[in-house]
Amino acid sequence: MKADTIYERLVRPALFSLSAEAAHNLAIRSLRAASNSRIALRQLERFAPRPLPKTVSGLTFRNPVGLAAGFDKNGVAIPAWAALGFGFVEVGTVTAKPQPGNPKPRIFRYPEQAALINRLGFNNEGADVVAARLRALRESGSWPAIPVGINLGKSKITPLEEAVDDYLYSFQRLAPLADYVVLNISSPNTPGLRSLQEHDSLQHLLAAVARENESTGKPVLLKIAPDLSLADLDQIVATAERNRVAGLIATNTTLDHSAIPASLDQTGGLSGRPLFAKSTEFVRAIRERSSLPIVASGGIFDAASAREKMTAGADLLQVYTGYVYRGPGLLREIVDGL
Ligand SMILES: Cc1cc2nc3c(=O)[nH]c(=O)nc-3n(C[C@H](O)[C@H](O)[C@H](O)COP(=O)(O)O)c2cc1C
Repeated sequence: MKADTIYERLVRPALFSLSAEAAHNLAIRSLRAASNSRIALRQLERFAPRPLPKTVSGLTFRNPVGLAAGFDKNGVAIPAWAALGFGFVEVGTVTAKPQPGNPKPRIFRYPEQAALINRLGFNNEGADVVAARLRALRESGSWPAIPVGINLGKSKITPLEEAVDDYLYSFQRLAPLADYVVLNISSPNTPGLRSLQEHDSLQHLLAAVARENESTGKPVLLKIAPDLSLADLDQIVATAERNRVAGLIATNTTLDHSAIPASLDQTGGLSGRPLFAKSTEFVRAIRERSSLPIVASGGIFDAASAREKMTAGADLLQVYTGYVYRGPGLLREIVDGL
C-alpha cells in the first residue's frame, strides 16, 4: 500500500475514533517524541517530496509547501516537520502570556464537507516558554534547514488598547529566534482581534513593529481574514506596503459557515475545502493590487487546488486541514504536481 493509502485507510480512522483534540494531541506527542530520535526522523523522511527550492523575501524554501500556524502552537516538533518534508513551518500562534484557550470541546470535524471548525482561542505556553524552547533547539544544533516562522497573537486578557505592547513583548523575545514573523490579526476566536485589521489600529501596530524590527530585520508578514471586504483589503495592502511588511498570508479561517448544516454548526473559524474558493479569491485580489509575496492558506487538499493557488498569484502555500484529512503523503502529491 502507498503511504497516503495507509494513512487514509488505517491511521485516519484510528485518529478519527478519538475526539478531534485528543487526536491532535496524540499526533503532536508522537511527533515531539520523534523529534528527539534520529531513527524516528529517518523514518519520517520517507514521506518527504523531491526538492523544489524557491526564494521569497530573502529566504530559501526547500519547497513551497509549509505547515500552517496552529498545528504546532508551542514549537515542540520542529525537527519532525522538517523530516516529513515541509518546505517551511510556522509555529504559534504564540501570545505574550501563557493561556489555556476556550473550554473543550473546541475543535469539530466535518468529514462530509472536508472541513473543521475550531474555537481554540490561542491555547499556548506563552512567549517566554516558547522562546526558551526555540533557543534550546538552536543551541542544540538541531535547528532545521528550512525556514521557521513564528506567528504572534494578542493575549486574551490584554485589553485591545494595549494590543501593540502585547505584540511587541512577544516580538522582542521571539523575532531574534525566528526566520520570519507573522502578525496574526485575523483569528475569529479572540474577541476584538480582527478589529486590528482596521486602518488606524493596523497602522499603529505595523509602525511599532517596524521600529522594533530595525535591529532584527526579520521578514514580517501579516495574516488576514477571508471575511474582509475588498475596500478593507485595499486599505490593508496599502498600509502593509507603507510599513515594509514582507508579505501577506491569505487567509485565516472564515466565519462563513454556509457549507455546514445548521443543526451541526458550531461557533468558531471554518477551515478546509469550503474555505478554498473564498481564500483563493483573496489571493487573486491581493495580486491584482500588489506585488507583495503571498502565502496562500485555505482548503489546499491536492495538487490541483495547490496549482490553482499558484495561478491566482501565490508564492508559497500552507496546509492544515488538508493534512489532517489526507496525511503525510499530501506533500509529495502537491510538490510532484507543481
Ligand atoms: C485547529 C486549528 C487551529 C488553528 N490555529 C491557528 C493559529 O493558532 N493561528 C493562526 O494564524 N491560524 C490558525 N489556524 C488557521 C490555519 O493556520 C489556516 O490558516 C486555516 O485553517 C486555513 O487553512 P486550511 O484550510 O488548510 O486549514 C488554525 C486552524 C485550525 C483548523
